[in-house]
Amino acid sequence: MKKLKIAVQKSGRLNEDSLQLLKDCGISIDNGREQLKAAAKNFPLEIYYLRNGDIPKYLKDGVVDCAIIGENVLVEKGNGISVAEKLGFSKCRVSLAVPKSSKYTDITDLNGKRIATSYPETTRNYLEEQGVKAELHIINGSVEIAPNIGLADAICDIVSSGSTLFKNNLKEVEVMMKSEAVLAISPAISEETKNLLQKLQFRIRAVLKGRDSRYVLLNAPNEQLDAITAILPGMKSPTILPLAEAGWSSIHSVVDQEVFWEVIDQLKEAGAEGILVCPIEKMVL
Ligand code: PRP
Repeated sequence: MKKLKIAVQKSGRLNEDSLQLLKDCGISIDNGREQLKAAAKNFPLEIYYLRNGDIPKYLKDGVVDCAIIGENVLVEKGNGISVAEKLGFSKCRVSLAVPKSSKYTDITDLNGKRIATSYPETTRNYLEEQGVKAELHIINGSVEIAPNIGLADAICDIVSSGSTLFKNNLKEVEVMMKSEAVLAISPAISEETKNLLQKLQFRIRAVLKGRDSRYVLLNAPNEQLDAITAILPGMKSPTILPLAEAGWSSIHSVVDQEVFWEVIDQLKEAGAEGILVCPIEKMVL
């Protein structure tokens, strides 16, 4: 039977969240992080644990059909590989940083300077767009140390919390790109395998939509129902059920978690009481 081959990071910042996403999609994997390859028990899927930087090549060559990978790695090495879904985790920036003590006005300050990076393509393209000529020093790890040891005047690397920059006395001066984990597709994927991919994508969307939403239940006096339903758009329209106490109703709806606190304040002002907020495991629209 045909199987969908998916690559995930063997170790690193995406590994845990990638496996959690597959688990939330109902896909259980025989645990074998020590192995290169493992099979899913209840979905026609094979998981390949690969080094981050190698994944674009495996996608291009069609060794795997899809991958969970950082957009930053795709932009750097994944020319021609398409993105099927943004996955909403491992958010970071690819940024230029300079020593805290150095004066920095704008990008032209980097003309003629040395920049250490593990992202040469991204850096080169960005500098070219900005009309800046700098010397790139390509290093594969601990890039942030380069200015401190006199190897470079600036660095370009990923920034997430900013603590690595802080510890190394650096300041972020330009955000070159924003990145998050994505589901990337091999240009060599077969038609037959695309069907399996669509099934996986359907599950991923339901999980992500659930993660982004909250189920809200509240009580309100009937005269306030119009005002409250106007605040709660829900998936179609809110569910309204009468309470045992005359003149009161219970309203159920789904709220985008990004606007959640704002909505709760408005609901309280409109007379809502006993507000319950519950997580949603999956949501199929
Ligand atoms: C990355 C990057 C930075 C750090 C930034 O390294 O190279 O060192 O994360 O994160 P922060 O802003 O939260 O401090 P990572 O640990 O992912 O490993 P890498 O060196 O293999 O890129």
